[in-house]
Amino acid sequence: QTALTYCVVLPLLYLCALLLSVTSVGAAANKQAERNCSLTPPYLPSTAVNTSLQLQQLREKMQSLRISAYIIPGTDAHLSEYIASRDARLAFITGFTGSAGTAVVTQSKAVLWTDSRYWVQAERQMDCNWELEKDASISSVAEWLMSELPPGSPVSFDPFLFSLETYQNYASYLESSSLHLEPKAVNLVDVVWGDRPPLSSESIFRLPDRVISMIFFLILIVHLFVCSLPVSLCGAIYLCKYKESEKLHLLCSLPRYLSLGLFNLRGNDIPYNPFFYSYTLLTLNEIWLFVHTERVTKDVEEYLTAHCSDPLCVQLKPYDSVLRDLTTYIGQPGVKVWIGTEYTNYALYEIIPQEKLITSTYSPVLTSKAVKDQTEEQVLRDAHVRDAVAVIQLLMWLEKAVPQGNETELSAAEYVNKLLVSFPVFLCCSPSVETNRRLTVDEMYLVDSGGQYLDGTTDITRTVHWGTPTPMQKEAFTRVLMGNIEISRTVFPSGTRGVNIEMLGRRALWEVGLNYGHGTGHGVGNYFGVHEWPVGFQTNNIPFRAGMFTSIEPGYYKENDFGIRIEDIAVTVPAQTKYGNNYLTFDTVSLVPYDRKLIDIALLSSEQLQWLNNYYMTIRQLVGPELVKQGLHEENDWMLKNTDPFPEFGSSASICSSSLTLIALAVTLFHSVD
Ligand SMILES: *[C@@H]1O[C@H](CO)[C@@H](O)[C@H](O)[C@H]1NC(C)=O
Ligand SMILES: *[C@@H]1O[C@H](CO)[C@@H](O)[C@H](O)[C@H]1NC(C)=O
Repeated sequence: QTALTYCVVLPLLYLCALLLSVTSVGAAANKQAERNCSLTPPYLPSTAVNTSLQLQQLREKMQSLRISAYIIPGTDAHLSEYIASRDARLAFITGFTGSAGTAVVTQSKAVLWTDSRYWVQAERQMDCNWELEKDASISSVAEWLMSELPPGSPVSFDPFLFSLETYQNYASYLESSSLHLEPKAVNLVDVVWGDRPPLSSESIFRLPDRVISMIFFLILIVHLFVCSLPVSLCGAIYLCKYKESEKLHLLCSLPRYLSLGLFNLRGNDIPYNPFFYSYTLLTLNEIWLFVHTERVTKDVEEYLTAHCSDPLCVQLKPYDSVLRDLTTYIGQPGVKVWIGTEYTNYALYEIIPQEKLITSTYSPVLTSKAVKDQTEEQVLRDAHVRDAVAVIQLLMWLEKAVPQGNETELSAAEYVNKLLVSFPVFLCCSPSVETNRRLTVDEMYLVDSGGQYLDGTTDITRTVHWGTPTPMQKEAFTRVLMGNIEISRTVFPSGTRGVNIEMLGRRALWEVGLNYGHGTGHGVGNYFGVHEWPVGFQTNNIPFRAGMFTSIEPGYYKENDFGIRIEDIAVTVPAQTKYGNNYLTFDTVSLVPYDRKLIDIALLSSEQLQWLNNYYMTIRQLVGPELVKQGLHEENDWMLKNTDPFPEFGSSASICSSSLTLIALAVTLFHSVD
């Protein structure tokens, strides 16, 4: 029994899987852990994977097909961020197991592109067959291809693993060169991957009615009937735009998304993500679900076909027939297809004739899904309280155990498993054995954890130091925290794009010439994806409306020294302003205190300090009672100690509010003694 089915059997446990990683950004002492290809013979750490054989086989295959370069992205056919082991082609061919990257293989070279989060990991896991390129953008890959390959060279890829947008990006960069992009339906890595893991054989299961959001379904139906076109089809779409002006009310979704949201089914195809592989075709009078039908139980099948007298009947089709069946479907007169450019795989796009195609960026389905209804918001908030209890237990344990000198990244994960025995709070999962390093008081650690609860998905990162941080570490941490607070407390008009407030997360760092190389936040689901687009702070994210959940996660990484990330989940809520209406702000729902030792309060503005004290008061109010209820008195004391209000300074306004804070605290303390 796995974590996810376990939680269906025992739905009262709520929490199904916890993804935990405790990592440090390798200190100088761990230089040995990285490869050095400039030595003869090259130095390879024990974590490096010998990729000579698979590369040789891939190159032979490429040669026989006359392919000059083969592009291997890190995703699967549903453009998922977390993937099943059978889709870990990038890891198989490069040795690198990080969750983001693109590899290119030519007859003479093999190169991996990945972003700053993964440079150290790549240097530890790759052998000297591979070069590392640090600018992970598509333009960088395209430039490399143009500089390496002679004109006319065919560049190939698996069209199922490219989003339409990725394809178009490559195509536009390569346009000026004479390189040819040639999709090949057979994945060449799979061909040479002898012991590729099989598909999950576990059944697809149904969510309890309690957590089902009918709203999502209703939105779909309304859109269907408003639709001005005779038939609408969505093959594989995630981000699509609701173009009111053009009267094109077509429906779309990322295949797995639509299937999940429509049918309230979950599977276990991808570890820690309750997904199953599927595509959905939705028309005015039919719903087709392409799925590995042998995994659909009788119960689920009956549930799906319960409405077979009306257009809600769901017809099950074999997963592998999606291209064939869609081709037939599209062949009918009057059919138009609306797809989104970012999350539709190129293989599905390819089969749609241009005159039957409508493309755009966001789906009304997803935009609506991004705004949680009240029930969803409440259960997500509740899930975060339980998650805070678990994370507080873990942090307190680490704080006590690490100075004893016996704990490693792996044993920390084991402790998480033990917690399951004593309290049915969370289960599972470990950092990979090859990065199982001893935890010490000399380094800074990122504790990044996320839980899949039946009612919500959580994601939180705390950076901790169990010894004495350097002044630089303390300053950098404080500036990251300032960024987190600045975004969290900002008030903005409803409809503001995340990208327009993103720099608030960086300003305190920029002031002293520091920065970070990743995005500042992402949406989260209700027992869905831990990274759920289209909410977030990037240019391709949708404007903020009340009820959206996003992470806020600025960071700072000093290569080969230390790393910092502070990640909280926040929900957009209406803000009271003096003059205007329809303004929003964030309400942080992650409820775990930051490492006090790393905060230099002299750097904080009085507003930031006030925010921090209010946040700590909220933690006491919401998490305290839960800790007490669970009999976790030591943890409760730890929480109280770590949420002790910081002295505030400055204006009379803040003095006034701090005495209010004290009154509220007194009430809380009284309450918890009670
Ligand atoms: C590799 O080793 C050489 C010689 O010891 C050293 O100069 C160089 O800095 C090392 N490179 C890396 C990336 O560690
Ligand atoms: C990698 O494996 C190949 C055989 O597959 C072997 O010939 C080669 O010596 C190995 N390389 C290293 C660095 O161990």
